[in-house]
Amino acid sequence: MIKKLSFFALIFVCTMTYGQESAINLIPQPAEIQKTGGSFQLSSSSKISYSNQECRKIAELMAAKLKTATGFSIKSEQNTSGSIQLNLNKGPVEKLGREGYSFVSSSKGVVISANEPAGLFYGAQTLLQLLPPEIESKSAVKIKWTLPCVKITDYPRFSWRGMMLDVSRNFFTKEEVMQYIDQISRFKYNTLHLHLTDDNGWRIEIKSLPKLTEVGAWRVPRAGHFGERSDPKPGEKATVGGFYTQEDMKEIIRYAQDRFVTIIPEIETPGHSLAAVASYPELSCTKNPDAKVNPGTPFSEWYGNGTFKMLVDNTLNPSDEKVYQFLDKVFTELAAIFPAQYIHVGGDECYKGYWLQDEGCQALMKKLNIRHVEDLQGYFMNRIESILKAKGKKLLGWDEILEGGISPDATLMSWRSLQGGIEASRMGHDVIMSPLQYCYIDYQQGDQTIEPPLYAGLRMNTCYSFEPVPEGAVAKHILGGQANLWTEQVPTFRHAEYMTWPRGWALAEVLWSPKESKEWTGFVKRAEKQFDRDDLAGINHSLAVYDAIITVARTAGKMTVNMDTEMPGLEIFYTIDDTMPDSKTMKYSGPVVLPEGPVTLRVITYRNGKPLGHLITLDPQELAKR
Ligand code: ACM
Repeated sequence: MIKKLSFFALIFVCTMTYGQESAINLIPQPAEIQKTGGSFQLSSSSKISYSNQECRKIAELMAAKLKTATGFSIKSEQNTSGSIQLNLNKGPVEKLGREGYSFVSSSKGVVISANEPAGLFYGAQTLLQLLPPEIESKSAVKIKWTLPCVKITDYPRFSWRGMMLDVSRNFFTKEEVMQYIDQISRFKYNTLHLHLTDDNGWRIEIKSLPKLTEVGAWRVPRAGHFGERSDPKPGEKATVGGFYTQEDMKEIIRYAQDRFVTIIPEIETPGHSLAAVASYPELSCTKNPDAKVNPGTPFSEWYGNGTFKMLVDNTLNPSDEKVYQFLDKVFTELAAIFPAQYIHVGGDECYKGYWLQDEGCQALMKKLNIRHVEDLQGYFMNRIESILKAKGKKLLGWDEILEGGISPDATLMSWRSLQGGIEASRMGHDVIMSPLQYCYIDYQQGDQTIEPPLYAGLRMNTCYSFEPVPEGAVAKHILGGQANLWTEQVPTFRHAEYMTWPRGWALAEVLWSPKESKEWTGFVKRAEKQFDRDDLAGINHSLAVYDAIITVARTAGKMTVNMDTEMPGLEIFYTIDDTMPDSKTMKYSGPVVLPEGPVTLRVITYRNGKPLGHLITLDPQELAKR
């Protein structure tokens, strides 16, 4: 503990001494960092060297990035004499593990060393963040390219640092997926889970099942809020969608490998399978020849306690051998493309109502001596696991797979709560924590009157407070965590960026940095600097962190309004008289009891005399709702 204290005291002193000179705003925060004074200046004669051929690609990627922004023709070559050196350690340094690195910058240059290439890649990301924000420019900028002299020893807290992109609800092009890989790898994420299939589109070519992409990848064009759209009309052409050919996917995988990102494919089973069922209706119990890929219609009913009904059969039939033959074909082709050890097979939100009415399912339940239809999912999942094992792959599924009974080798992604993950880890399963309360970045990030509509909210400071190993969990079974971007309401890549950043930075730090160094105020200040870098890179992000957080309490028939902000150091100004708020109107200093009458509350935040964030207007109806 004393050691730890003195380490933090050292950082504090260094920050005090050198803070003015060149602030360090790394995300995620390294395990250990020490400023040593002075700086290194990049010049047209700077060279990148790499010690081993396996590191060539990392050096080339870095050289390309440096060249674009600086205009210097920075070369990379295999030796150990460059002013920026990427060196593999001759013998392993235990502390650094597979992904850690050490980074030493002096006035002469930078030496990054690691046990494995992944560590050098992460060291290179740190180097880029230590350079001025203009390093993100798309064209050459004439400035002094200095970085501070530091000693860093860095390694991740978790081996699974994941991001999920749902490419079924909305299709993103190969190039967009690559951009996303680029963006996440800069914050040391190492896993991209692609949700490739669902009710709204099948996105990966399966050569032996051509209808999956001829039919399943396309839906009728509809605008408007997803979940409220109209049904396909008879004979209407399905023109919206797309898919990745196997060659596209191999390209994506190679691109990701160069950035040390593992692509995890997800094929949703046995529920959420309408795109497959529309392609091959015989896969479902109801075998409806008119089943259509869903364009975002209200085809399910949710009863608020986790129970629901699917008004359209979107479920594979667990009693039909043809379904297992179908899945065998799908997983055979996937296993040949994806090098990851895992294939994600979904398993969430499977409606069993059609199974209950199906003669084949009834007969199977009798044969297996199963009393509850829910347990049929366990049978189904175990069959799938055998298929995957035969292809050398491990099964990964959403936490519902635990309910029907599953082998201890199965890995769970705990999405409904932390508790599911805690229990699974205690049963000996490996677990990836991605509970919706902290990790669902499709949720609104600011006031619900400002953000595009969604049924839930998740602010960046809640993401930052995520602890992937909660009390009661068996730590060795928690592989890490994951942010999930579902895309029902994400129709463009630009909006995918908006939803991902800055919350993706918060979760990157949760998953990489030591638990002990977590500190919101310091983090959010570093995040502010990252906004500037994004602007130069043309990457979108939400600024909701600057908005006021407004809550309403009711006592003795009076409404009391409380206001706060996620970003420290902001002033909140407001009006309740139907005028526009600014820094000369009322300043919030404590709970405000609203007077009688149909009051409209208008709120805006300021810092240093400048307005920040959005104007929030809560009319009497909105106030009454809160
Ligand atoms: C999920 O969000 N249904 C995994």
